[in-house]
Amino acid sequence: LYIGVDLGTSAVKLLLMNEDGKIENIASREYPLYFPNPGWSEQNPQDWFDQSMEGIKELLAGYPKEEVAGISFGGQMHGLVVLDEQDQVIRPAILWNDGRTGKETEYLNQVIGKERLSEYTANIAFAGFTAPKIFWMKEHEPENFGKIRKIMLPKDYLAYRLSGSFCTDVSDASGMLLMDVKNRRWSEEMLKICGITEEMLPKLYESYEVVGTLKAEITKDLGLSENVKVIAGAGDNAAAAVGTGTVGDGRCNISLGTSGTIFISSRNFGVDEHNALHSFAHADGNYHLMGCMLSAASCNKWWSEEILKTKDFKAEQEGICRLGENHVFYLPYLMGERSPHNNPDARAMFIGMSMDTTREEMTQAVLEGVAFGLRDSLEVARSLGIQLERTKICGGGAKSPLWKKMIANIMNLKVDVIESEEGPALGAAMLAAVGCGAYPDVETVAEKVVKVIDTIEPEADLVQKYEERYQEFRKIYPAVKELF
Ligand code: XUL
Repeated sequence: LYIGVDLGTSAVKLLLMNEDGKIENIASREYPLYFPNPGWSEQNPQDWFDQSMEGIKELLAGYPKEEVAGISFGGQMHGLVVLDEQDQVIRPAILWNDGRTGKETEYLNQVIGKERLSEYTANIAFAGFTAPKIFWMKEHEPENFGKIRKIMLPKDYLAYRLSGSFCTDVSDASGMLLMDVKNRRWSEEMLKICGITEEMLPKLYESYEVVGTLKAEITKDLGLSENVKVIAGAGDNAAAAVGTGTVGDGRCNISLGTSGTIFISSRNFGVDEHNALHSFAHADGNYHLMGCMLSAASCNKWWSEEILKTKDFKAEQEGICRLGENHVFYLPYLMGERSPHNNPDARAMFIGMSMDTTREEMTQAVLEGVAFGLRDSLEVARSLGIQLERTKICGGGAKSPLWKKMIANIMNLKVDVIESEEGPALGAAMLAAVGCGAYPDVETVAEKVVKVIDTIEPEADLVQKYEERYQEFRKIYPAVKELF
């Protein structure tokens, strides 16, 4: 048996997979997210550990625990976790959707310069990336900065607590802006620029490599046998790509979670010359390009729960029947935007309402706005000559058939629906299986485990209607940008 842990932003999701790739059980535990200032986003690493431990216990109840051979992770990316000399967390983790580093990001992109950053790391700075956060700490919390002995990413904190191994993997580390992505090693130049040393950074592994075993006290607490292998794991998007079979060359996955991402796997290293898409290492040993919007399913959650005061997303969407014919637009920038605008100060808005606008139309606009935001990244990929015909989809938002239909028609892509849309947790369990030797490599396990059960085809008339709406949507951000 293999355990996959998806350390997400709203919850940790745990999945138990057997050697044949069958999902035996799933559990999930929530933890709080703190917004101490507008645009800031923090979490307590201790909560991740506590809820993961509780979640694993729940996951394994009634299953033969002694058969667990390995555990691995998919983790929310870019978060800054810092430990002091005593291995204590210095301050709450600053997360991927935190926008406080506008100034630091600008310094990196303008003063160090996009060209140099891109040469060293294959990427430019975005507010959510880890390096700008290190700069922010240096400037705003010099005392805390002086205490730093270890810098790690969220899932690596969990691996460290569970195994004692100070490690990370190349896919997640790519998002720190400290790694030379092409050569899969830390960038000496970037460490120098950030004023940190390599000893502060975890050892780099490929996602399917074994980094150690669970500590004795952990196996005892969980009732597991000795020598449970800990496998490096991946950033949640790369893990989701594994879990949806988006490996090898030219495959695409869309994730509709708290964030929204479009992930394109590639055997070759490549950089987006427009700097809108991230160029990162993949968990299968190759590379990928990815566009990330900061608020995707979270827009729907905010709109339904905070504004409409309902948690019944399904009922809310049932009244939507005129796809492609909405006159309301919604900009999905609740937490600023990463791809393609790179603007932490951008904000969400509705536009185009009239006296006869209905609640359904506004809900529809929210779902469409997220899909249009993802299309912005797809357009960048298309401009690089990448031709995609189809995509997989995963994440909480993928549970909505309506949203999937919108995605197919707004993106003009066939959407392959897979048997299990668990994404990162499944991908993590698959990486554990590879690390334990049950499969020779990531592509083989993906072929064996991931099954397409349906395909949503774009419909010509809807594609046409949405094409016109998308061309309108595109004009809005440039027109209102000055307001933010
Ligand atoms: C990717 C990103 C998000 C988080 C979500 O660059 O920031 O997708 O990984 O957990």
